[in-house]
Amino acid sequence: MTRDAAKAADRAIEPLPDSLVADPLSFFFAEHYRHRQLCHAIDQLAAATFFDAAAVSEVVDFLRYEAPVHIIDEEEDLFPLLRRRCQPEDDLERILGLLSAEHKADGVLGRQVRQHLEACLEAREAPGGQMDRRRDLSQFAAQERRHLALENAIVLPIARLRLSQEDLKALSRRLAARRGRVLCEDDR
Ligand SMILES: [Fe+2]
Ligand SMILES: [Fe+2]
Repeated sequence: MTRDAAKAADRAIEPLPDSLVADPLSFFFAEHYRHRQLCHAIDQLAAATFFDAAAVSEVVDFLRYEAPVHIIDEEEDLFPLLRRRCQPEDDLERILGLLSAEHKADGVLGRQVRQHLEACLEAREAPGGQMDRRRDLSQFAAQERRHLALENAIVLPIARLRLSQEDLKALSRRLAARRGRVLCEDDR
């Protein structure tokens, strides 16, 4: 095993292959799987009685760099596209409104969780040491799991039904551009 492969195997949250962006709905399902891995990692941090710098740093980095980009993917691309394509019988507007409100709430609690974990890194303390902090970690993970379940069960299946091939290509290009990539014909 190479050093990079060994490092990747140690991670709680798997990296995504760059090529997946060419299949945007699979990309969102895969991102949600990674968010579930994040929730599991957070639950483990809440329960841990010892300090593990690598485990704490991985969650801090995901909350700082990756989670906000996923919310932008949904708020600026997926949700507006779905609003244009869904049919009245999909009853999606209410669900999208609820999910957008949760994005805001998750942003606030996510920031608190991250700041707490950063303080733990600084002090080299186990994140679950204080009861109120432990409760914040667990609450964030539970809230996030409910959110993911709703998106997987309702939003993505409706997207599969309603988005055209052209919509999916446009979505791919937007996701790729946000990650500093330009899709070539072979990727699509
Ligand atoms: Fe999502
Ligand atoms: Fe979301």
